[in-house]
Amino acid sequence: MTTDTRLSNLFPTSADIPEKYRLGEQIEQREYLVDGSLHIWKGPLAVVRSPIYLTTEKGDEQVILGSTPLLDAQTALTALDAAVRAYDNGQGLWPTMRVVERIQHVEAFLTRMREQRAAVVKLLMWEIGKNLKDSEKEFDRTCDYIVDTINALKELDRRSSRFELEQDTLGQIRRVPLGVSLCMGPYNYPLNETFTTLIPALIMGNTVVFKPAKLGVLLIRPLLEAFRDSFPAGVINVIYGSGRETVSALMRSGNVDVFAFIGTNKGASDLKKLHPKPHRLRAALGLDAKNPGIILPEVDLENAVNEAITGALSFNGQRCTALKVLFVHEQVIDSFLEKFNAKLAELKSGMPWEPGVALTPLPEQGKAEYLKTLVADAISKGAKVVNAGGGESRESFFYPAVLYPVTSEMRVYQEEQFGPVVPIVSYRDLKTVIDYVLESDFGQQLSIFGTNSAQVGSLVDAFANQVGRININAQCQRGPDSFPFNGRKNSAEGTLSVHDALRVFSIRTLVATKFQESNKALISDIIRNRESSFLTTDYIF
Ligand code: G3H
Repeated sequence: MTTDTRLSNLFPTSADIPEKYRLGEQIEQREYLVDGSLHIWKGPLAVVRSPIYLTTEKGDEQVILGSTPLLDAQTALTALDAAVRAYDNGQGLWPTMRVVERIQHVEAFLTRMREQRAAVVKLLMWEIGKNLKDSEKEFDRTCDYIVDTINALKELDRRSSRFELEQDTLGQIRRVPLGVSLCMGPYNYPLNETFTTLIPALIMGNTVVFKPAKLGVLLIRPLLEAFRDSFPAGVINVIYGSGRETVSALMRSGNVDVFAFIGTNKGASDLKKLHPKPHRLRAALGLDAKNPGIILPEVDLENAVNEAITGALSFNGQRCTALKVLFVHEQVIDSFLEKFNAKLAELKSGMPWEPGVALTPLPEQGKAEYLKTLVADAISKGAKVVNAGGGESRESFFYPAVLYPVTSEMRVYQEEQFGPVVPIVSYRDLKTVIDYVLESDFGQQLSIFGTNSAQVGSLVDAFANQVGRININAQCQRGPDSFPFNGRKNSAEGTLSVHDALRVFSIRTLVATKFQESNKALISDIIRNRESSFLTTDYIF
């Protein structure tokens, strides 16, 4: 397809949209969930704009999807108060409930959630422009994550059901909740990434205030009733509005015990600082990244190009794990560029529901303009856009720009573009690449592409203390979800995985006693008479 036709045929007329993916009326959402009830917000609303435009006689018209509540600080605090009451200093129904019963509540939620798959997937496409296949994957992966979390908790609980005897001390160790969690996710995975903190927080017995991401907000609406009906009142509260207005007030109150946030390191730092007792705040943060892909001179170029294309451009590069700068050895740079551009030209642009589509409009307002400034900056300092049509745009759509040669003076060398701009640096000496990683403010992941074992081996050692994950001959990614997902420097705080998240949202409590007859008898009585939820040898099957 020529670049001209790519852009001119991009946006559909309303008649072009397949029946199945059409939206009905605009959704005016006024509901928010506090203390087990859906409340109606009578104040101002935020307009929800789609990244998708329609071709009309009057030109391109942006689709308005509806609106969501713009709660004020006072209303947001009612949600926090409800969570505080439900937690009740750890004495509430939820934090004291037996693990097996909490699991039943989460299972009930999952059943209701699965019923909303089509509605959520459709909104993922319309709200953030994620293609159908990836939207379905996001939904299904989230359901799988919930199932895996339930299984991991059962396993954890089984291990805690036994007593341990050490140095004449008999003890039982269990993980217990921390308190009230504030969970906030990112717009690029508004369902999945939010639920990877929300579900572990809940299942471990914490109560939660959940604020959806800045985009991808309406898609939570179909789940509100499921949340309301599946958990005791106040255990899960869902609020909407500007972070500055609502979240600042929550943090300032000092009543948030766990802060789970996926976003920028600046946003996270600003919010953490508002908490009056920082030592009482545990944080689980997924933040900025600038993951490099390093292409060595001895390399399976075909594989490196394939992985670099998906690594840099799946969901238009809007993944925290995306490859955001490519270092290519000068011996292979020419063939790499040729193959990379050829592969990129095969990617289909279009609307999220079109079969096989890879490149779609960007949901953030002003994103195409921002990317243009990055490209212009690089060009003014000597780079060129080396792919056909690179950087061309129409409204919210920006066709990927491959920039070469990129140097350290250019903004795109360090700045996280979070979009379809691919900076390529040519290097001769591996020291250039090693220094880049050592001096970077970020430390999430990187990818090494090469076939020379000595070279790959020594690079692994050079980077092992720099990033959370080193990928060999593969793009960077979060999954499988059973593996640790973390980062160093400004990229993260804490480690998430199915297994780790249960630990992030809990703390171990030990009940211990001297191993002597009277104590043995006492503990045995408590267990036999089922006089404690904590001290029990019940085994969850
Ligand atoms: O945006 C960051 C996500 O955690 C990346 O997940 O690597 O599975 O796309 P992914």
